[in-house]
Amino acid sequence: MQPLTEMPPIRSSEITPEHVYFSRRRVLRLGMLALGSAALAACVPTTPTAQEAPGMIPRLNKRDEFGDPVNRWEEITNYNNFYEFSTDKEAVARLAQGFQTTPWTITVDGLVRNPKTYDLDDLRKFGEEERIYRLRCVEGWSMVIPWLGFPLHKLLREVEPTAQARYVRFVSAFVPEQMPGTRLLPLYPWPYTEGLRLDEAMHDLTLLVTGVYGRPLPPQNGAPVRLAVPWKYGFKSIKSIVRIELVAEQPATLWNTVAPHEYGFYSNVNPNKPHPRWSQATERRIGELGRRRTLMFNGYAQVAPLYEGMDLMQNY
Ligand code: MTE
Repeated sequence: MQPLTEMPPIRSSEITPEHVYFSRRRVLRLGMLALGSAALAACVPTTPTAQEAPGMIPRLNKRDEFGDPVNRWEEITNYNNFYEFSTDKEAVARLAQGFQTTPWTITVDGLVRNPKTYDLDDLRKFGEEERIYRLRCVEGWSMVIPWLGFPLHKLLREVEPTAQARYVRFVSAFVPEQMPGTRLLPLYPWPYTEGLRLDEAMHDLTLLVTGVYGRPLPPQNGAPVRLAVPWKYGFKSIKSIVRIELVAEQPATLWNTVAPHEYGFYSNVNPNKPHPRWSQATERRIGELGRRRTLMFNGYAQVAPLYEGMDLMQNY
């Protein structure tokens, strides 16, 4: 029987793989470029940072509010956690390629005055803005990602939560025939679920994401609609959402059910609270050498008032 295991510990292969992996791919790409266009050899760039191969999406020349450059498209879309497809971050993009994301609906129901099922056209009326957010995974790596989307509060205001609604429960799609990872982890409590307190869900930083890098969201990043909650560990940012339910009690979530001592309901980024199996004091920014210090709330100090009076070392 497959045991219910926690998120796998950081594998040794994960300590340096991205920059090695990506620079290796870059070298390969450059190699192919050089081979395929020998006649144009003089034009083949000599520095690996100055160019992108034909057909590649050029790196956006944008920074987040902390001054950090956005990650490359290739990094954002080829190093993913999406257990429904695979636990191998570099296999997700390929395995999720054929995932059917149209037609799609999201049902918003529970303790609301106006329950509604939204299709993708309905969601468009909420608009789309770019938000460049840090994503800090609980495993100790991070990226800077230019999301497109709209604040979740726009949608929540439309359905009008009742006075009893105190939490928001999110549910991902569960399509085993298209999601090979779910068959390899049959004891996980699928579908993937997550939750926020209502005031967290209403915070302006909480984004319903419909795109990335100025493009529609690819399947591996949670198409067609996912959440981005930048002050919490990445697993709170649930992908491919099909239901948003307003509830009175703190909802069960997949990771909190699988390993409650490792993955708390709140899971705010907190460098002072180590994961039981590793420190959270530092992180590897994908594409950088070395490690950088992890900041409380991932740097988004404006959310601190949400947790006034709460002991974040106990309620994590
Ligand atoms: N959502 C679903 N449905 N399934 C998942 O496995 N993984 C989470 C989160 N959302 C996950 C998910 C984790 S652990 C992280 S770090 C982020 O997605 C990764 O998002 P990205 O692949 O777009 O970087």
